[in-house]
Amino acid sequence: MTEANFSTHLHAPFSPIFLVLFNLLFIFILCSIFHAYSPKVWAVPGPFFAKFSRVWYLRQVSHRDFQKTNIELHRRYGPVVRIAPNEFSIDDPEAVKIIYGHGTQYSQWYRASGHPNIPDLFTDQNSRRHAVLRRKVASLYSMTTLLRMEPCVEQCTALLTERLREFAQSQAMFNLQYWLQCYAFDLIGLITVAKRFGLLDDGTDPHGLFPSLHSYLVYCSHVGIYNEIHPILYTILSYLGRGGGHLRNFTSEQVQKRIQALVDVEHKPGSGDDFLAKVMQKHGEDPENFTMNEVFVTCMTNIGAGSDTTSISLSAILWYLLKSPEAFGKLRAEIDDMTANGEIADPVTFQNAQRMPYLQAVIKEALRMHPATGLPFGRVVPKRGATIAGTFFPEGSIVGINSWVAHNNTDVFGEDAASFRPERWLQSEERTQKMERYYIPFGHGSRTCIGKNISLMEISVLIPQLVRAFDFELVDPEAELECENLWFVKQKNVFCRVSMRKF
Ligand code: HEM
Repeated sequence: MTEANFSTHLHAPFSPIFLVLFNLLFIFILCSIFHAYSPKVWAVPGPFFAKFSRVWYLRQVSHRDFQKTNIELHRRYGPVVRIAPNEFSIDDPEAVKIIYGHGTQYSQWYRASGHPNIPDLFTDQNSRRHAVLRRKVASLYSMTTLLRMEPCVEQCTALLTERLREFAQSQAMFNLQYWLQCYAFDLIGLITVAKRFGLLDDGTDPHGLFPSLHSYLVYCSHVGIYNEIHPILYTILSYLGRGGGHLRNFTSEQVQKRIQALVDVEHKPGSGDDFLAKVMQKHGEDPENFTMNEVFVTCMTNIGAGSDTTSISLSAILWYLLKSPEAFGKLRAEIDDMTANGEIADPVTFQNAQRMPYLQAVIKEALRMHPATGLPFGRVVPKRGATIAGTFFPEGSIVGINSWVAHNNTDVFGEDAASFRPERWLQSEERTQKMERYYIPFGHGSRTCIGKNISLMEISVLIPQLVRAFDFELVDPEAELECENLWFVKQKNVFCRVSMRKF
């Protein structure tokens, strides 16, 4: 066939290729219509186009403010809303236990957050394999292990305080979110591979970690929706040196260096309080049961899941404190009074912080107002289906709660749910318990955040230190908070100035 012939052949309306494509499209449309009107779930309300294709959801996510859209959807349609042909967003406190009870399975969305062939704790959809790995590493995140990491937190707190002192001297404006990200990244490095990544030295990002994490989040938040393409897309992007590969390679390099240091310098692969030393010890004791791959993915998930989430939460706390001078004043008074009474140390320790009721209320309230993740935590409905918020979902449906939606529920949090008011956590035991049942900044159930206490320790030490030492001023006090939702809802405009506090 000549080239001209071939081209005519390809584009001719009834060519075999055209017919195949046409038939495929026809089948796709038929399936979509069949699914949309299948008697089992057709009645679930939601945007019209979400009935037929995932494109509607993809488009909304691409606007990067899905947390707002999701709240609005529930306001409009009620507690159960369709966001894709087989995917539903739920707003019902009673649903938390049903959806996130033990043994439930992650939706396919999570696939795109990890390597296509190497499961890790965060992305593994196989519940049994996940439970085995979680058991293996759980002790590394226990409170006893954690308290040994406190010196790392103090070290990074001191460095950040030093940088802010310099800002106070120069009166320069800076992006607080950016610096808190430097803090969180350096700290997770220190905790995981016994090495800061150099960000708190002068605020430069020598390893290009911020753009890497950003492209990783762009990728997984979008490709998660059409995750069938993940294996091939991941391979292509890796081949081109794009995608999440850089973060993986960087972690791999850091892991190798630390292993080398443990072997060469300290001659004890299991020494040290960092994660890597500890997982290497586990590997040394039973290499078959704790593989080198598991050593690597444990470090990788720490760096991927534990830096942005913590810096977003820290930024949320400071943003709301700066927007609410009364709350800032109360927290400062608590710190001053307890310091004067010798009840807390300088810096405040994680254990001190547990005895500071106003600090705890501020942390809880800020994480309620601004949870770090902003898409529903999707789960697959198991065999025999499930009734959630009065709707029956057949096996295989995907249901999930978005923490932004949950935390905005006025039946649970009160008519002023949209306002930052730490006092709501200090009213009564009964009220607090009711709110806690629908409070999910760290998720819920078997996949609940394993690094929660690490973050809470970072927050508990840093926040009192900053509130104690600095007066903050937002560059534009009237500005609304601007965020970008790429699964993690990162603040973009927390610009401020600081001055040393005048006693
Ligand atoms: C304030 C900071 C943090 C927030 C708000 C946060 C939030 C979350 C949430 C919501 C989940 C559950 C996701 C789901 O169900 O779909 C989760 C899981 C997870 N988080 Fe965090 N996280 C934080 C810090 C950390 C840190 C510091 C680490 C590690 C050092 C970490 C590691 C993980 C891992 C490994 C999982 C998966 C757990 C599993 O499936 O068993 N996170 N996190």
